[in-house]
Amino acid sequence: MNQDELKQQVGREAVKYIRPGMVVGLGTGSTVHCLVEALGEHIKNGDLTDIVCVTTSNRTTRQAESLGIKVEEIDDVDHIDLTIDGADEISEDFQGIKGGGGALLWEKIVSNYSDHVMWIVDESKLVHHLGAFPLPVEVTPYGSQHLFTKLARRGYNPTWRMLPDNSDKFRTHQRNFIIDLHLEDINDPFALHEELIGMVGLIEDGLFLNQVNDVLVGTQNGPKFLH
Ligand code: 5RP
Repeated sequence: MNQDELKQQVGREAVKYIRPGMVVGLGTGSTVHCLVEALGEHIKNGDLTDIVCVTTSNRTTRQAESLGIKVEEIDDVDHIDLTIDGADEISEDFQGIKGGGGALLWEKIVSNYSDHVMWIVDESKLVHHLGAFPLPVEVTPYGSQHLFTKLARRGYNPTWRMLPDNSDKFRTHQRNFIIDLHLEDINDPFALHEELIGMVGLIEDGLFLNQVNDVLVGTQNGPKFLH
């Protein structure tokens, strides 16, 4: 199975954890795309009723609504039972990097207000230590060049996240910029998170620490549940 097939595998498997009547947080990315597709089929067949979803990006909202899935604004639901999202890296102690798709702020908000969080990944996302994947940080545009210089002086090898055609800087849903930090190896993700979140103008970082309850991994031998 190639990576796309493994994503399909976990996307389809993850639907089994959604129960009728749940308020479900839907993440962002290609693995979640497979989940939403499968969820749409279940809702259409009538196997899953009274599902309300909260999404972490306009992309996911558009896909969900096109499949007849009911989507509410996060502040219009009083709780979120289960959020299912992808990840860019997961370490052996279940810490993660997210934000490869640029949705880290909404993803972290939805994750924080969820009763239960599950990540769905193909096996290539499991690593010993975080850091090979560039760590995204979302920054407010005002003064962001100064912040960029500060990150560079600290040796964090920053690059601006650009649009695919390189014509301009990428903007998040909040119209912020993303700076990717090329760190290679993160020794202490908790200390790094504290340092980054303390910088003025830095709104959120892609370190998702102690956020996840379960991980569903797509492998050549079928889906593996890690808890
Ligand atoms: C988006 C994310 C995604 O969950 C992460 O990038 C994984 O994406 P994919 O499932 O496409 O590999 O954090 O901001």
